[in-house]
Amino acid sequence: MARKKIALIGAGQIGGTLALLAGQKDLGDIVLFDIPQAEGTAKGKALDIAQLSPVAGFDANYAGSSNYKDIAGADVVIVTAGVPRKPGMTRDDLVGINAKVINAVGKGIKENAPDAFVIVITNPLDAMVGLMQEVTGFPANRVVGMAGVLDSARFRLFLAEEFKVSVQDVTAFVLGGHGDTMVPLIRYSTVAGIPLPDLVKMGWTTQEKLDKIVQRTRDGGAEIVGLLGNGSAFYAPAASAISMAEAYLKDKKRVIPCAALLNGEYGVKGLYIGVPVVIGKGGVEKVVEVSFNADEKAMFDKSVAAVKSLVEATKKIVAAG
Ligand code: LMR
Repeated sequence: MARKKIALIGAGQIGGTLALLAGQKDLGDIVLFDIPQAEGTAKGKALDIAQLSPVAGFDANYAGSSNYKDIAGADVVIVTAGVPRKPGMTRDDLVGINAKVINAVGKGIKENAPDAFVIVITNPLDAMVGLMQEVTGFPANRVVGMAGVLDSARFRLFLAEEFKVSVQDVTAFVLGGHGDTMVPLIRYSTVAGIPLPDLVKMGWTTQEKLDKIVQRTRDGGAEIVGLLGNGSAFYAPAASAISMAEAYLKDKKRVIPCAALLNGEYGVKGLYIGVPVVIGKGGVEKVVEVSFNADEKAMFDKSVAAVKSLVEATKKIVAAG
């Protein structure tokens, strides 16, 4: 069977980590793409990882390029192009620069990799993935945003630390937009299948501690931005996107939260926002609609409103060229 092809648009910190993880997971051959000014970085990282492959024991061809033609035939395209935020900024502050980047990248993908499954990581995530779908014109099941997997991984880690149990035994869902209004769902998060509210009743933790963990999850990206001082998280975002690519390429039917285009689900139409979806060879094969109580619905609605206003801002930026 021919190896699959994975194109990574953006050869920064996340791009390099994606390239490494994709090889280690035997996902296929990798093209690391960046603009001509950063072609050396793309080629250098590609060659460096290729030279790691004999030590790590995997077979994959690596190439670096600044020519969109080199992404031709890609099965999966993962987009990290754009700029990260700096300490003190919100993700939304990036919309002015990154909307223009995504507009250009979307055209390159449309022309050169028309059959690809596209995963967007660039912030502000929900608005950027919506723009990508609009520019490429690809069916919505083939364009998704990476956010919920990452936010849920942070929530799971903090819960595992609180309960002093393996991260493997913690499940958690964070829905809504990938911004300050994200919605970590306590009721749908569990330790070994036991919902968090029951663990409070059992006296294993307190509501106050859970509330702090929820807030730390919401601030998870900013915490890393503050620590790094010059850039944003890259290991966990890359691993999250790779899990989505793997679910697609291996038809795993994973149920994971991603930014997906809603078409009436959750009472929302025509907007990308984080919800649980099934990812398999058909891309987003199903949007899973969980029921909300009044508080959860209010949080989700607030998040929808925040994403809608960013989408409006994005439209204006693109229209102004
Ligand atoms: C993250 O959550 O780590 C990313 O969205 C990057 C950021 O700016 O926080």
